[in-house]
Amino acid sequence: MTTQSKSSNISDSYPSDLREQARVALKDQKSRTITVLSSLLAVHDELGYLPIEALEEISIFTNSSVNEVWSVASFYPNFRFTPPALHSVEICWGPTCHVLGAQQILQGVVQHLGLEGEGDTDDGEISLKYNTCLGVCPHAPAVSIDHRLVGHASLAGVIDKIKTLIEGSKNKQGGD
Ligand code: FES
Repeated sequence: MTTQSKSSNISDSYPSDLREQARVALKDQKSRTITVLSSLLAVHDELGYLPIEALEEISIFTNSSVNEVWSVASFYPNFRFTPPALHSVEICWGPTCHVLGAQQILQGVVQHLGLEGEGDTDDGEISLKYNTCLGVCPHAPAVSIDHRLVGHASLAGVIDKIKTLIEGSKNKQGGD
């Protein structure tokens, strides 16, 4: 059976856009050595998570079984298998940020979101992650909100930004 026919058989039962995005990401890989891991990283970067469709496309692309792909994917805690929340908040708790108050920001944000640590809020609005260095130590403590860096962050400032994000989502939903 060719790769193409295998792929079209499977795609009959799943949304084709996820498959198509995964296929494009797999073909566009820049690394010289294509492996299951490089493929997982490429697709995760593209989709933000690894749905079953992506694992199947990777197994086809790398001539591996879905079980082999899953065993590599599940080994790395940074891969997620469910869609991310609407907004991302990453709090740096690296040494410089730690010294300059990251712990207070981290604890305050976790409490504000009703979480116990990293994870997604129940309403699907915020994905909270910790980061060991956002690369802007001179501006510590640092936070990344929807991939935009905030330097010299304060707990109140971060909570304000989170509230603004959530209000924006609600307004958008109300307008739909
Ligand atoms: S330690 Fe926080 S940005 Fe480097």
